[in-house]
Amino acid sequence: MGGYAWVTLATNDAYSLGALVLAHSLRRVGTKYELAVLVTPGVTSMMREKLAAVFSLVQEVNVLDSKDEANLALLARPELGITFTKLHCWRLTQYEKCVFVDADTLVVRNCDELFEREELSAAPDVGWPDCFNSGVFVFKPSQQTFASITAFAAAKGSFDGGDQGLLNMYFNDWARKDISKHLPFIYNMCSTATYSYLPAFKQFGEDVRIIHFIGITKPWLQYFDTLTGIVQPPAGTPHLQPLLQLWWNIFCDKVHPQLSPAMAGLAGALAQMTLGEPRSAEQIALEEHMRKQSWEQGQIDYMGRDSFDNIWKKICETLSLAPSRQPSPPKTTSEDETKSEKKEEAEVAKEANTDLIIQSEGNNEINSPAGTEDSN
Ligand code: UDP
Ligand code: GLC
Ligand code: MN
Repeated sequence: MGGYAWVTLATNDAYSLGALVLAHSLRRVGTKYELAVLVTPGVTSMMREKLAAVFSLVQEVNVLDSKDEANLALLARPELGITFTKLHCWRLTQYEKCVFVDADTLVVRNCDELFEREELSAAPDVGWPDCFNSGVFVFKPSQQTFASITAFAAAKGSFDGGDQGLLNMYFNDWARKDISKHLPFIYNMCSTATYSYLPAFKQFGEDVRIIHFIGITKPWLQYFDTLTGIVQPPAGTPHLQPLLQLWWNIFCDKVHPQLSPAMAGLAGALAQMTLGEPRSAEQIALEEHMRKQSWEQGQIDYMGRDSFDNIWKKICETLSLAPSRQPSPPKTTSEDETKSEKKEEAEVAKEANTDLIIQSEGNNEINSPAGTEDSN
């Protein structure tokens, strides 16, 4: 009994890449505390070996899934039901206190002082600041708390289908009761906030301790140039470049040399890239295939390579239109105009008989252009 630990979770080899970079980032800033990772059967044994080299504990747990499709659809993240698996962290009673950190976080400065806080301390969520974001939180392992939260989950569910909704329902006095349980935002700086409030990022960015690559900005899904060593941020978010670059620098230095093609999905694909040389055609094809798989699992790069502009460009290319005749992508001026323009796109795509998937802007439905677009 006793001791403090940082805890994260990975249910597959792709998120394990995040966990590995996170662990190295914690070592890099000289944390005094232990590192623990919860893994599920989806993590290959090869990957577990690599995790064991940097984490002091690799603990297998079973998958807990909310299976709450309706609320997860509202969040547009069908895959996040399994974030209920995080709850297993309360069972690590060999530690006295822990800080849970998502596998898509990166620690940029030592923040061991977080262990002075009490359960449940967390930073506000950027989408709804009266809720805390569950990507970073201080907790006290306890079998009793684990049993109590899981019983609560079975009875009440989660308002977002993931752990964040559940934990905010369970620790429901967080917003009002005790300000010392509100962590400053610099301990969970959501990368998407940097473009919604750029002046604040310019002012306070230097103080950031933990970066959280929420949503589509997962570092391992961004395009990385193997020749120059530069990562390309998602379209329209150039200020994310230095943050993503830091992740990739640690990845190239500490993680890439450890990867094996026997690893699953993107981890296996990235094992095959050669740093300092341009990607081969085979490598590009392999990574594209893995990226497509990520899309199908719900990780869509809406603002980047899977953006509507790129899909539109592909439609135009497919139709081989001369540049002067290229129709411009629809503007979201009024609802009616958008509707009729969407109809036009559908017609064009139908004519081209492409098998593209159209992701319309500001709308989380995925419509197949080939005949399933409604005709109103
Ligand atoms: N996670 C995982 N496998 C998945 C999805 C999520 O291991 O397929 C874990 C991982 O630790 C991740 C956390 O659950 O960081 C929460 O998911 P994510 O970070 O993708 O959610 P976001 O912060 O983008 O809302
Ligand atoms: C959030 C959090 C993440 C959590 C997910 C599901 O946005 O960043 O940690 O797992 O939602 O509730
Ligand atoms: Mn996260």
